[in-house]
Amino acid sequence: MNIGKNVSDIIRNDNGDELDAVHAYNEAISLALRVDDQGTVDLLTMILKMEEGHVDWAEKQRAQIDQMGLENYLVNQTFTPS
Ligand SMILES: [Fe+2]
Repeated sequence: MNIGKNVSDIIRNDNGDELDAVHAYNEAISLALRVDDQGTVDLLTMILKMEEGHVDWAEKQRAQIDQMGLENYLVNQTFTPS
């Protein structure tokens, strides 16, 4: 596991790990389908959807960092409206 030394690295590494998880769950679902285990397919599909949400989150953060720069991104993460 490689966490990263700064926010950009952390989010990029998390994005990669989430993509790996999506790939692994898709493979496990394929296996469960081959052995006709619908309960496992249903469970893993539910988890897969959560992992896809994590990928979306990480990609959104990376896009925001690319578009507004890390400093502005960090300011937005710490701003608390009164
Ligand atoms: Fe995840």
